[in-house]
Amino acid sequence: MRVEENKSLKNYNTFGIDCTARYFVSVESIEELKQALSEKNSKELFILGGGSNMLLTGDLDAFVIHINLKGIEILKETETEVFVKAMAGENWHAFVQYCIASDFGGLENLSLIPGNVGTAPIQNIGAYGVELKDTFVSSNAIEVETLKEREFTKDECAFEYRNSIFKNEAKGKYIITSVTFRLTKKNHKTSVSYGDIQKVLNDKKIETPTIKDISEAVIAIRQSKLPDPKILGNSGSFFKNPVVDAETFQEFRRNFPEAPFYEVSPTEFKIPAGWLIEKAGFKGQRFGDAGVHKNQALVLVNYGKASGKQLWELAMEIQKKVKEMTGIFIEPEVNVF
Ligand code: EPU
Repeated sequence: MRVEENKSLKNYNTFGIDCTARYFVSVESIEELKQALSEKNSKELFILGGGSNMLLTGDLDAFVIHINLKGIEILKETETEVFVKAMAGENWHAFVQYCIASDFGGLENLSLIPGNVGTAPIQNIGAYGVELKDTFVSSNAIEVETLKEREFTKDECAFEYRNSIFKNEAKGKYIITSVTFRLTKKNHKTSVSYGDIQKVLNDKKIETPTIKDISEAVIAIRQSKLPDPKILGNSGSFFKNPVVDAETFQEFRRNFPEAPFYEVSPTEFKIPAGWLIEKAGFKGQRFGDAGVHKNQALVLVNYGKASGKQLWELAMEIQKKVKEMTGIFIEPEVNVF
């Protein structure tokens, strides 16, 4: 374990922003993590996972701990299901691919989501009708103050749409070290009704899809809409899809009867932020090296040398225009530092 100073974080965030960390250490075991925590003294702590859901707007005057804990373990299994524990530093998609190769079902719709296993519960990652919480059993974590290990059960995590206890009461207090999932070994409960999955399967003339077929369909859809962070810096959806009350929704519908929406409950309506941003005229727009992706307006992109500040200014401009034009307030989904 070596503490580096003024380390560039360019390769540690998927936006590819060139900011530095005052102190930086990558930990590969729980012991190293505890050692790093005790060495940080009074410096501010910053925990870095896959760097796929954050925007850095300046250098970090902090003690950055990069969670690089690796390992996948089968805890127990029956004829029909398996409990798999993955360490926090495992790449999410590589873990999903491991599950598919082992024919463990439940995560196939979450293929190709950037980031690491340990950060997935923080925002309860979700895509194509499936959320992390659907297969989540528990997380192990270390308490920053005491270095004590503890477990968070699914109920304790208080999962919601792109939200959990780790974004609220537990924020900054715990470091997730592993996540355990409950997956199926046969009779997989597949979910193909969302978006274009069924269409892709139909085009390939697949009637009874395997989890591998579904994963491949999701990968194809994501690749057609979402930019690959290795080629074009981005952080996935920059904004959350807003959920509005019935009154706001009725007013919005009067002005935009053509807008897509999902009824969350009789009094709550979710409107796709991507549609709102496109309506406000930003889709495919580029301002210097900061831009809005041409195939999915919810994704902001770094064409190369955009600073975090420039991307943040663009985000705030989008937020303002969307509110002026549609009456709807959209909130960032990424963490901004
Ligand atoms: N839409 C537009 N214009 C756009 C983008 C979208 O009109 O530029 C419309 C689409 O036509 C569709 C609706 O908005 O009617 C929804 O679009 P899509 O299915 O692409 O999904 P989304 O709501 O924009 C969410 C997640 C994504 C996830 C997809 C698929 C959030 C904030 N985003 O996007 O998650 O991959 O559904 O399930 O909930 C992420 O969080 O980083 C992410 C990529």
